[in-house]
Amino acid sequence: MSATPSATERPLKFSSPYLRADLVRDAVDYTIEGRTIVVNPGTTPVTVAEVPRKSIPPLSSTVLADTRIEKADALLLLRPAAEDVEMTGITREPGWHHLADLLGPGEFSRDTPLHRSAQDEINTVLFDPAYILGEREAALDQREFNVRANLWFAPAGTDCFIHNTHDFIEVHTQVHGLGRMQRFRDHDQASLYQDVLMSPGYTTPDPFCATGPQCSYHYPMHQYRADTDCVWLAIEYHPVPRALRTLPVPTLLENR
Ligand SMILES: [Fe+2]
Repeated sequence: MSATPSATERPLKFSSPYLRADLVRDAVDYTIEGRTIVVNPGTTPVTVAEVPRKSIPPLSSTVLADTRIEKADALLLLRPAAEDVEMTGITREPGWHHLADLLGPGEFSRDTPLHRSAQDEINTVLFDPAYILGEREAALDQREFNVRANLWFAPAGTDCFIHNTHDFIEVHTQVHGLGRMQRFRDHDQASLYQDVLMSPGYTTPDPFCATGPQCSYHYPMHQYRADTDCVWLAIEYHPVPRALRTLPVPTLLENR
């Protein structure tokens, strides 16, 4: 990848020899060198400089190779070392933990081999959650969100746990292997009603949740299932309490 003079670029905390992961800010006419998973974590489309002009929609991703991005406030660029790399070793990289070690005692089964990387702070964005989640046709109530990203790993055949509580909006991008995000009627594998299959570079369309009262989010029962050894990216949008809003007015206006 090559940075234009205006762009800033840094490795994400979970970048490793298994998987190079970079954050690019303020990209203008930015060259993507080689085959790369390009994630648009923002709420405006990111245009690819090809004909016909097409864009990466908000909160989504694609795989690009040797092309240019016209403009983007933020991009996440992910490049696995090789498609056939033995990914299990990524969980021995610094910052990775079994989820049972990250949560309190008894919160998560050590029998489920789900591992999480270090989490990185990406940026702060403004959007109307009801608009982004497809609940109304116009953005009426802009709110501030802290954007955080981390990787997950689970080996082939892992059902990563059915759950339905998050105090943020989450979006998932497949990075390595074949997996799926699944929705259920209740906390029971037999109650599955939707199976979203994911291959590298694919982001689940439309976050799974709906807005709830007082900036909460209502999720269906859902889980990630790894069909092969899988690495996937989670991007979390954490609402900032209004009393703590930090963006200066000009930035608020620019992001509308
Ligand atoms: Fe979840």
